[in-house]
Amino acid sequence: MSRGARDASQDVPLPVAGSPGTNATDAALSRIDVVVGDITDLSAELDVDTIVNAANAQLVGGAGVDGAIHAAAGADDLLAHNRQHHPDGCPTGLAKASPAFALEARGIKHILHTAGPVWSGQRDTGVPGAPGDDTAKLGYTLEDTLLAACYTNCLKLAQQLGSGVVAFPAISTGVYGFPKPRAARIAIGHVLGHFQQRPAPELPRRVVFACFSDADADVYREALASRGQWMFGRSRA
Ligand code: APR
Repeated sequence: MSRGARDASQDVPLPVAGSPGTNATDAALSRIDVVVGDITDLSAELDVDTIVNAANAQLVGGAGVDGAIHAAAGADDLLAHNRQHHPDGCPTGLAKASPAFALEARGIKHILHTAGPVWSGQRDTGVPGAPGDDTAKLGYTLEDTLLAACYTNCLKLAQQLGSGVVAFPAISTGVYGFPKPRAARIAIGHVLGHFQQRPAPELPRRVVFACFSDADADVYREALASRGQWMFGRSRA
């Protein structure tokens, strides 16, 4: 499958909103897609009009998603805009908007820049929930809270901007080293929570998780499939 193409055959089968037995969670789930692709070049049929950039707090560009978005949008325009409109950058967990510049030709209207937390990598400190403790309950580390804030603040900003469909990369899971399964649960949990509190027709209508590889998409599919175990029970991540 080419990058940007939606692999519908491997999507987690989700309940259709409005079908018998539907509830708020099912309706929220029906507003989520997991796709494999470069976030700057997603299939047009996904209708994405807003993409999220896994930026740094200085908003000065970098590698990974940040590099790809700057290259595709036009680095000079994007850097100049952010310098002028966001001179203090984007503190970790917050979100700042910019136009999409050259990406408008691909139907993108907004780029939301958010700075995820750096996973500290500390383990076995003996302190539950200490930075970098991947055995801590989900939501119990500082990094969990900051990563959740990235999703929450991007969704709020998207709502203010009138975004229809928002594509998220796996924030913090590259250079910043956040464990991927943990990050996927935080992303899914907070997007679902947002949708449950804001039923259709509230905007954004849908969220697309743009995964850079099949293996990354599998992490999201597994997190969605096992949500009953980790989302409500406060079980160990
Ligand atoms: N499209 C979708 N996903 C991508 C793309 C892309 N074009 N490029 C990389 N990814 C994936 C990575 O595989 C990873 O899972 O995005 C995830 C996030 O990785 P990073 O881009 O490294 O983001 P992050 O971990 O949040 O680190 C941010 O990296 O370059 C810098 O300026 C950036 O300092 C900031 C830091």
